[in-house]
Amino acid sequence: MPLSVEKKDLSGLTVLITGANVGIGLETARMLCEMGAQVTIACRNAQKAQAAADDIEKTTGNRPEIVSVDLSKLESAAALANEYTAKHQRLDILINNAGVATTEKGQDGLTQDGFEIDFQVNHLAHFLLTIRLLPLIKHAAQNKINGFTPRVVVIGSEGARVGKVDYAYLQDSDKLPFFFNRYANSKLMNAMFAKKLAEKVKEDGIVAHVLHPGFVASDIYSKPEYKTPKFLQAIIGFVIKATARNNVQGAMTSVHVAISDEAANTTGKYWDSCKITQFPNKLVADDDCVNELWSKSEQYLKEKGFDVTE
Ligand SMILES: NC(=O)c1ccc[n+]([C@@H]2O[C@H](COP(=O)([O-])OP(=O)(O)OC[C@H]3O[C@@H](n4cnc5c(N)ncnc54)[C@H](OP(=O)(O)O)[C@@H]3O)[C@@H](O)[C@H]2O)c1
Repeated sequence: MPLSVEKKDLSGLTVLITGANVGIGLETARMLCEMGAQVTIACRNAQKAQAAADDIEKTTGNRPEIVSVDLSKLESAAALANEYTAKHQRLDILINNAGVATTEKGQDGLTQDGFEIDFQVNHLAHFLLTIRLLPLIKHAAQNKINGFTPRVVVIGSEGARVGKVDYAYLQDSDKLPFFFNRYANSKLMNAMFAKKLAEKVKEDGIVAHVLHPGFVASDIYSKPEYKTPKFLQAIIGFVIKATARNNVQGAMTSVHVAISDEAANTTGKYWDSCKITQFPNKLVADDDCVNELWSKSEQYLKEKGFDVTE
């Protein structure tokens, strides 16, 4: 059954969404623009970002602001937080949407900061970005518009079901596991991060959630630069055609969690098809594991010169 979301007047509310030039992020940004929000799209490719902003403006009459970010560079995530903070007084909705599922092996599998790519883009850089933007989100919580509860929406994945916590390969390209495991592990981290963040910001009147957008026919599984093996591309292409949601349907859960009262009235939940559901992996309930991820993430960032003391 197709998903739908109740439309709201989001005038005055600010949104920052990463990776919104294509796929689920683009359609999420479009829906929020359509409802009148002041949306900023953070993208790594200026040309693709311009094309997305043009397209959104054409279809909604509301042009999103564009900011540049490459989450495979921690410096760039920090710069995005600085730039957004310099331009905006508040942040009502942060959507950590950008994601990769890389297939490289060897040295190519690490970023210039020395971390496995999926881990850095999907988790660590978003961790840095979120913590650096918390003051603006707290400001929005203290100065609510139409009673709206500010929130952090993390796009995780059902793939977290097979995720494990394994720190051994995160800075060692010789120990990289199979590509899907790296993706799944990073998506498990997304869920753990959202759960812990929700606890940390509860007293500030901010909520945080993680969600699975469904199996969506975006380009994430077949980017040429990630060298997805041809046989895998063929299998994925076949499965996608047969079963996947389109990007608009894929964006519905993100939009629901971003704007609904239901998501404001609870926190630290996992959502699928616009509904709260069980976390796909029991490790999310393991507080020691979740706390360890939080402190290790802080430590990794500190070692690279990024203070994330809240
Ligand atoms: N599609 C699915 O079935 C599915 C299922 C579960 C979860 N998800 C999650 O949904 C989210 C959106 O994915 P999607 O399916 O819409 O994939 P997509 O079409 O490939 O979009 C991913 C977005 O992330 C951006 N991105 C990738 N690496 C980046 C980097 N280093 N810095 C900044 N931005 C970067 C991409 O930018 P470029 O255009 O420049 O590459 C793109 O805008 C991801 O977090 C993904 O893990 C998707």
